[in-house]
Formats: sequence, C-alpha cells, structure tokens
Amino acid sequence: MAGEDIGFLTGNVRPSEFDLRLTDRKVGKGGFIKVKHPVHGFVLARIDSLKTYLDDFEESETQGHAYTVGYYEGGQILSPRTPFNPGEKVYLADTKIITDVLSLGHRREGSLYLGYLEGSDIPVYLDIQRTIGKHISVLAKTGAGKSYAVAVMLEELLKDKVPIVIIDPHGEYSSLCVDNDDYDGMLKYNVQVRNYSSQVIEYTTDSGINPHAKKFVLRADFTMEELLNLMPISLSDKEKSVLYTALQDMEGDYTLNMLISRIDEETTKLKWKVLSGLEDLKKSGVFDGISTSYNELVKEGRCSIINLKGTLPSVQELVVERLTRELFHLRTIGKIPELFYLVEEAHNFCPERGFGDAMSSSILRTIAGEGRKFNFHLCVVSQRPARIDKNVLSQCTTQIILKVTNPNDLKAIKHSIEGFTVGMDEEIQQLNIGHALIVSEALKQPITVDIRTRETKHGAKPKYDETGRIEQPPKPPPEKLAPKKKDQRTEYPKSREKKRGGLWNALVSLFLEPEGKDTKTLGQKISEIFLKPDATKEKPKKTPVKEKQSEPPKGEPDKDEPLEKRRLSPDERRRRLAQIFGDDPETQEEPESD
Ligand SMILES: Nc1ncnc2c1ncn2[C@@H]1O[C@H](COP(=O)(O)OP(=O)(O)OP(=O)(O)O)[C@@H](O)[C@H]1O
Ligand SMILES: [Mg+2]
Repeated sequence: MAGEDIGFLTGNVRPSEFDLRLTDRKVGKGGFIKVKHPVHGFVLARIDSLKTYLDDFEESETQGHAYTVGYYEGGQILSPRTPFNPGEKVYLADTKIITDVLSLGHRREGSLYLGYLEGSDIPVYLDIQRTIGKHISVLAKTGAGKSYAVAVMLEELLKDKVPIVIIDPHGEYSSLCVDNDDYDGMLKYNVQVRNYSSQVIEYTTDSGINPHAKKFVLRADFTMEELLNLMPISLSDKEKSVLYTALQDMEGDYTLNMLISRIDEETTKLKWKVLSGLEDLKKSGVFDGISTSYNELVKEGRCSIINLKGTLPSVQELVVERLTRELFHLRTIGKIPELFYLVEEAHNFCPERGFGDAMSSSILRTIAGEGRKFNFHLCVVSQRPARIDKNVLSQCTTQIILKVTNPNDLKAIKHSIEGFTVGMDEEIQQLNIGHALIVSEALKQPITVDIRTRETKHGAKPKYDETGRIEQPPKPPPEKLAPKKKDQRTEYPKSREKKRGGLWNALVSLFLEPEGKDTKTLGQKISEIFLKPDATKEKPKKTPVKEKQSEPPKGEPDKDEPLEKRRLSPDERRRRLAQIFGDDPETQEEPESD
C-alpha cells in the first residue's frame, strides 16, 4: 500500500533528481519520499530543498527538489537509469523502503546504533566496519553535540570490544564509567542504562589533577629537535652543543633523570641553562617513571583514555606525536591489534597551514593517508573544521556533522565531502543540538540522525568510594528501564504535521472529507470560502514568504531563487480545480515541464 499521495513531480524530471510540488507538508527538508518508476516500481528519494510561497491567488504553494536514492532489488541497491513519468505522485516513504535502500541495518551486533532517522522512529544502525573502516570526522560548532555523539559511538564500539585509544584534552570521556540517569531519554531511544568502567582505563599526564587515573609516562628517548621544541627556553649554539653531546652518549631505555645527571657531570658553565630547561620539562611529569606499556594500552575490549587536562599545549603535542607514531609503527608490524584512535580538538594536533604548526601534524597526516591499510582507524573531532589540516579531513570517508554556522567552517566541510549539495549546506546551519548529518560509505545517501541518549552520563566525573570503586547513581525501578513500546517513540515533529489552511485545503475539506460536527450548509461554507477568505486562512502577506527553515543566511544570495518565482499558470489552476470536482478532461495529459 502506497498510502496517501503528498504531492507530484513537476518541472525537470531526471533519473537522479527531480522537482516536485507538495500538496501536504507531512515531509520536510531532508525527509524521504517514494515515487513510482515506470520500470522499477517504488524508488526512494530525499528532499534536498523546499520553499513555500504565495501564488497568484495568495495560496501557499510548496515546491522542492529531490535527489533519487535508489531502489532495492535482489539484495542490491540500484539507481534508475531512465526518468520517472512527469506528474507522477509522490508518497511518504515507508520504514521498509528507507531501511532497505539506505542500508540502515536492522540489528545491533556488528553495527552502531546511533539514534533515529530525524523525524521518524526508524532506528539507524550503521555497519561498524564500513563506518570506522576508513576514517571519521565529527565536526560542529561548540556545544552542538560532538562529544555526545562521539560517546554514543564509543558505547557501541565498546560493546563490540573494539580497542579504543582516546586523546582527551578536557578529560571528558571518563564519563563512560558512570551510569546515565536520564531515564526519559533512554526510554525514548530504547537504550538501557550501562557503564563501561570494567573496560575503560584512564591515564593522566597530571596525577595532581586526576589522582585516580594511572600515570601516563612516555619513553624519554628524545631527538634533539623534540627537546629544543619542548624546552620553554631557547638555547645558544654552544648550549645546544652541550645537549647534543649528552644525547649522543645516552643508550637504551634512558629516563629524563638519567639525561639530567649526565649533563650535570659537565664542568662548563653552559650546562646551567640546559639543566634549567630540562628541569622544567621534568615538571610536566610525562617522562617521570616507567613508561606506559602499549600492549596494555591497546587490547581487545579496552578503552584507554589519555586525559591531557592541565598539561601544557607543547607537552600535549609531544604526547600525541610520540604516542601516535609509536602506535602506528606497532600496528604496521602487527604488534598491537586494530584500533579506533580518537583525537578530540584535532585542530590543535593537526592544524591547517596558516593556523599554526604542531609536532603531531605529520604523523596524523600519514595515518589519514595510510592508516586504513593497517586498520588504524582515525577519528578526528573539532569545533573548527576550517582549522584542521585539509589532507586529514579529506581522508575521512564518514563525516558526522552537527550544527555549523561559520562560513569558513562550512567551506572546509563542503570541500571535504564529495557530492555536497546546496541543501546540505542549508541543513547543517539549521540542525538542532544533538542532530547530525551523516555522510558515509556505509550509507547510500546522507541522512540526518537524531542522536540517541547515552547509556552513560554526559559530563559526569566519576566519584570514588573508599575502596576505589566508582560510585553510580542509584538504580531506578525496573519499569523505568524496560524497553519502551513503539508508540512511545518519537513522533513527527510539529513542523512536519499536516497543516490545514488556504483555499485549496478548504475546498478539499468541503468536497472530499466526510461531514464533521459542523452544521453549516454547503452554501454557507462556499460563501465563507469565496466571499470571506479570511475565515479560512490567516491574513495573506504581501510578499512571497519562504519557510523559516529554508531562509538563506543574511547577506547571502538565495541560490534557489528561480523556483520561488514560479506561479501556477491559469491553465494549471483550472485543471487542478477541475480535479477536485472530479471532471478533469485533461487529467491524462502530461503536465508541462519547465
Ligand atoms: N544527542 C544529544 N542528546 C541529548 N543532549 C545532547 C545531545 N547532544 C548534545 N546534547 C547536550 O548538549 C550539550 C553539549 O554537547 P557536547 O558536550 O557534546 O558539545 P560539543 O559539541 O562537544 O561542545 P564543545 O565544542 O564545547 O566540546 C551536552 O551537555 C548535552 O546537554
Ligand atoms: Mg566536546
């Protein structure tokens, strides 16, 4: 059953895209529709842009443009090669065609459950391998929900026991160890409260700030260049030569203390400035003690968080450079398993040219280019897409984009996504918090996802009892944790509900809908519609209006302007009125295409 039609094709109709007119606003921008193809049956399409304007009779008309997604046949997703029939009816897409054609998946194992397809109760399951298989970027302005969405993804990867290493500059991912207490949210998305404290190990570069985390220690086998970069003071050429000679003498797995003692043996006065620089470095604490084992850090089911909170930016860079380089090397020779490597605030660790330089840039660029051959899965997260190295961004084949408004950031996103459309550009600027546009090889077409509630508590800092165990919020009654019934799930947002009003709808309700409670005679109703137009609709505005959603940002040209200027021709109006009365002699005629 196709259900009630909500519009029809108009204007240019191609196999891959078409214009349409909506007679019912059940579906919004980014929504899915289906249209019957003369050869392949129903084909799924996605609305890329929509605009509403007042026609000659000051009735509101909704026009749009849609891209064909494809149809499902014999386990394959195919694209039609011939156009649809002009004038073909448009229907709301049903769950089955959406799930099949978009490859949203149907089950939890081996897939990431990220939330619901926006405006629906269709769960989005993305195939793990095809999503993280290459690399991922998570981009959005601050506060839009990046870390939340990433944590949702991490919860799913943890369930699948994928080894994870997180570069965490703000110390926010230890919240994976704390139960969520947003029960309404969890019910809405059919999520069970859970924590991952048995899998997560938090490391810290500063035990003073984070006493419960393990100390993260790097091996101190510095190169001269690294040391000069790290020391907060600059050395003269003669002082540099003291340092160089000492470094040449060091052998094997030496510590920073050993290097300091070696330089202290010198008799020259030049040693004092070098020693003072090294003492400052020692204070960072990153080289103090037995170095952290990489085999402990990366193993099945383990999530290692490198909490860099409180650490100097230069030391953070060094940690990321060292750790990333070592892990990549160990991965290329098969000494550690495949892993998911998450870099938060990535613009600080691999900045775009002109936005500073970081020691870690080079290795992150190498991994973006070559990592997938070795199943080293990189995920970069940033609030400033324009400031991340373009080479890194363009290698991410899954993009999770939440609200972005900065024009430079939008431009960077546009250049990193193949097939970026004007509609996507508008959509990204209008996304709500927690809603993400996902473009991925795991998907046939970009989708907008209402990211699910976390199982663990966003923003929580673990609290420890006397035995060192993490305290959890008290458990709620069992009925609060039961999976919800389908009818409790998300409903279509108000903006997507059918809106009544205007002459067209008044006529439809007058002639086609069954009688309701009102007792007006037919004559009274007709006179209300034709003689007192204000009784059936809001006061018409003088100028064409667009839906607030599709308004271009101030000062920018509206790229879809020609569509807005379209009006119903008198012939078409007559034909459509005749359709209402059921005596349209021209119904079989092909609508004009423009
Ligand atoms: N999917 C979601 N469901 C519910 N709440 C959310 C969701 N996404 C974001 N939020 C809310 O928005 C707030 C900000 O989200 P988040 O911390 O993920 O932002 P961010 O993009 O990482 O910001 P920043 O750039 O500052 O790190 C969260 O504290 C949470 O309250
Ligand atoms: Mg964040």
